[in-house]
Amino acid sequence: MSVTRTAEVFVDPHFTIGEVDPLLFGSFVEHLGRCVYTGLFEPGHPAADATGLRTDVLALIRELGVTMVRYPGGNFVSAYRWEDGVGPADLRPRRLDPAWRTVETNRFGLGEFMAFTRAAGVEPMMAVNLGSRGIAEAGDLLEYCNHPSGTTLSDLRGAHGSPEPYGIRWWCLGNELDGPWQVGHKTADEYGRLAAETARLMRLIDPSVRLTACGSSGSGMPTFGEWESTVLTHAYDEVDYLSLHAYYDPDATDQASYLASAVDMERFITDVIALCDAARARRRSARRLSLSFDEWNIWYMSRQRPGQGEWPRAPRLLEDVYTVADAVVLGSLLITLLRHCDRVTAACLAQLVNVIAPITTEPGGPAWRQTTFHPFAQAARHGRGQVLRLHVTSPTSETAKYGDVPLLHATAVHGEDGTLTVFAVNRDPAASLPLTVHLGGFAASGPVTHSVLADADPTAVNTMAEPDRVTPRDRPAPPVENGRLALTLPPLSWNVIRLPLA
Ligand code: AHR
Repeated sequence: MSVTRTAEVFVDPHFTIGEVDPLLFGSFVEHLGRCVYTGLFEPGHPAADATGLRTDVLALIRELGVTMVRYPGGNFVSAYRWEDGVGPADLRPRRLDPAWRTVETNRFGLGEFMAFTRAAGVEPMMAVNLGSRGIAEAGDLLEYCNHPSGTTLSDLRGAHGSPEPYGIRWWCLGNELDGPWQVGHKTADEYGRLAAETARLMRLIDPSVRLTACGSSGSGMPTFGEWESTVLTHAYDEVDYLSLHAYYDPDATDQASYLASAVDMERFITDVIALCDAARARRRSARRLSLSFDEWNIWYMSRQRPGQGEWPRAPRLLEDVYTVADAVVLGSLLITLLRHCDRVTAACLAQLVNVIAPITTEPGGPAWRQTTFHPFAQAARHGRGQVLRLHVTSPTSETAKYGDVPLLHATAVHGEDGTLTVFAVNRDPAASLPLTVHLGGFAASGPVTHSVLADADPTAVNTMAEPDRVTPRDRPAPPVENGRLALTLPPLSWNVIRLPLA
């Protein structure tokens, strides 16, 4: 640990990274465990609307500020037949879902998902199955969704109650096909060719679609790097985004490295930017690809238990309960995404309800916010506008995985609403961190607010019995003096500091 105990942030309105794309605050709904069934969809629940959507969950999703939802998987999509989930619900087949070893009733499908996106006020991001299926089925799904009428598939959508096209703009070309666990796992050459040909067909059907090719399932994959380069050799000119996925497993034996997980995310993003730009240079293209971080979160993988018996329906799978420390790490991951908003223009917190999620529900009972709900909701609300390029000085702390890591992790957003918001994490679990923000050309026009998520017990969680045990709290903030703002960040804390600008 270095000797100075004060961190400093220098901001200036002229030094910007870029404008935040609202799609950075996306999430993910997979047919997995209780994300859909008894999560967002539970006919007969006291809060369910006429279509079976839980209005208590919808209200929380709106409060969370989610802008886009990826669907229907995830690993699930790689053996999914989209046709099973359309048409009269009582005629839909029950199928094995080999990805999660459950039975899928198909009671919830495409039409229900689109009704959900309208009720929640979010954009859909649809994944096509490039595992067990291929180009033709992807084209069929797009025609069913987006073609106005006059063909068998588009008229079928009309007959299913949706004469207006869904107009789905964002599409994922499969899911994690580099992973040996994936149904239809492929080599990079096989996937790159398939992604490129599928993209060509999809653009012929609807030129307005925005397409994401699968990058690696994680930076730790043995094929990471080679996978991206090979896939882009085939598909660079056909796609708009390359995907990244990352999950961070809280390691009780190495908390310092866990608290610095954002260092890994940062490296992953800069490495994938380099891979994309190398592919761009090789083809002398003027076009830069965007990155879609379409699965990211904290996931207690080491605690994962096997499913409940063989082939159950909507079992409790991956229902992690998040602590204060997890919320702080999640805030730090959000800071990383914001700091790369010039290239990461879409991202999905995986997932939305019950399954490694910010929202938990009880069947027939209440829905509540996990600790991680709060940093996401605050970033989604206040992280809109121009992200500033900061100069930061901070004491550091040693970690086993990443070497010396700054205790302060921060970003700042010059908001569309005429405010400056500093998002800051103090990674030090043992001590407060004094912070001075030098405001450069910014002048405050009113009182500063400082919201903190921290707790004397960093393992504290929210539960059904105590749903608001952990929430952000306002602290008194001193006024700006001589263009400087001096505050203290509590130990292991997520901080949102806001000032209205003159
Ligand atoms: O989000 C859970 C799973 O993690 C997804 O199904 C898969 O894409 C990833 O490995």
